[in-house]
Amino acid sequence: MEFQFGIPSKVKFGNGVVTQIAEVLQELSVKKVLCIYDQGVKQAGIIDKVLQFLKDGNIEVVEFSNVLPNPPDTILEEGANLAKENNVDALVAVGGGSSIDAAKAINILITNPGPINQYDGINTVKIATKPLIAIPTTAGTGSEVTSVTVITDTVRKKKMVIGGNNCGATVALVDPELTVGLPPAITAATGMDALTHAIESYVSKFASIPTEINSLKAIELISSNLEEAVKNGSNIEARTNMLLGSMLAAFAFESALLGVVHAIAHPLSVYCGLPHGVANACGLPYVMAFNAKDPNVQRRNKDIARAMGINVEGLSDAEASAKAVEAVKQLSEKVEIPTLSEVGVSRDQFDTLAIATLNEEVSIMANPIEVTKEDILDILEAAYVGSEISQNA
Ligand SMILES: NC(=O)c1ccc[n+]([C@@H]2O[C@H](COP(=O)([O-])OP(=O)(O)OC[C@H]3O[C@@H](n4cnc5c(N)ncnc54)[C@H](O)[C@@H]3O)[C@@H](O)[C@H]2O)c1
Ligand SMILES: [Zn+2]
Repeated sequence: MEFQFGIPSKVKFGNGVVTQIAEVLQELSVKKVLCIYDQGVKQAGIIDKVLQFLKDGNIEVVEFSNVLPNPPDTILEEGANLAKENNVDALVAVGGGSSIDAAKAINILITNPGPINQYDGINTVKIATKPLIAIPTTAGTGSEVTSVTVITDTVRKKKMVIGGNNCGATVALVDPELTVGLPPAITAATGMDALTHAIESYVSKFASIPTEINSLKAIELISSNLEEAVKNGSNIEARTNMLLGSMLAAFAFESALLGVVHAIAHPLSVYCGLPHGVANACGLPYVMAFNAKDPNVQRRNKDIARAMGINVEGLSDAEASAKAVEAVKQLSEKVEIPTLSEVGVSRDQFDTLAIATLNEEVSIMANPIEVTKEDILDILEAAYVGSEISQNA
């Protein structure tokens, strides 16, 4: 047996941990920070609270509020310049994956020369970065604990995955209360992203015992709490389980990587503007069914079915696998994830999307079976109409 496992960040998890922000910074001898966020998180009232905790702890703050979804490379220099001009000691990212990823990339550009595009890949960032505190406000990406930042290269039309050394957050303050006001549609999409992380890492070629344990627990937590979190956002237990699940899924995919669902989702965001979670949710059941051609994946899907609370006693691997796929599709429908046609993707774009998918080397490489352009076109068509799933069970 041989594996690598780890995460770059120290984690503090629990209701109210965000109140410890100044204390955490003081322990790192930080006096001045750049606080990075987007307008949605500001409007949710979260930023004003964090700024107050920082002020109460005598931490000086410079703000960068221009984060955009699927963060484009074009916004980063401004943030890095602001940090350099103001001589900040550290960064604080508050928000979903977009804010945390933008902060990670800005952090790279404070100490390493630009442009960011030259660092596309793993372990490409050579010079140490500043301390970064990540405070997630969505239960989805797990970016608070991963060593990767996903940035849209606006020229090459590609989501770059920049990761490894010097790219992660130093401390993750993971506070379920911050996710209570997340609107239902964003709760659904980000939650399906977390479920995709858990499922893709579980069937990945690079799965190992520590990643598998985290994947299965994440599948259990997310599948049993997502619907409640969407329908009754103030249920703090459901919110806690979702945030825990999304973080555990990230513990897993940090080492096991992802698969074809993410390989398709990235071009769907770049070419069609889909939110990351919606793009994943649209493809997930169809990629699961496609991967289940492989008997090993059928066995893995049987474990997934069990983790989702499905009784698989007496079922063959293929039958149990079909049940897991169907359960994922039903969950997606219950939380009202739209089909690709409903979000305005056009069939004319399929060819471009399929070619771009094959260029997502890292995710393609980790997928349990080989995938061709024809396979991707079939998956896109199924996700376009939301078709029934046929699997040899
Ligand atoms: N680095 C990683 O490990 C990793 C992993 C997966 C995905 N990602 C990336 O993360 C990005 C997606 O992040 P995301 O899905 O969290 O979405 P996001 O950060 O884009 O946020 C989605 C929307 O929700 C709003 N929002 C966030 N928290 C809120 C709250 N508590 N209340 C009200 N509104 C709130 C935001 O303002 C935004 O409008 C993508 O670019 C994706 O590629 C990164
Ligand atoms: Zn994702």
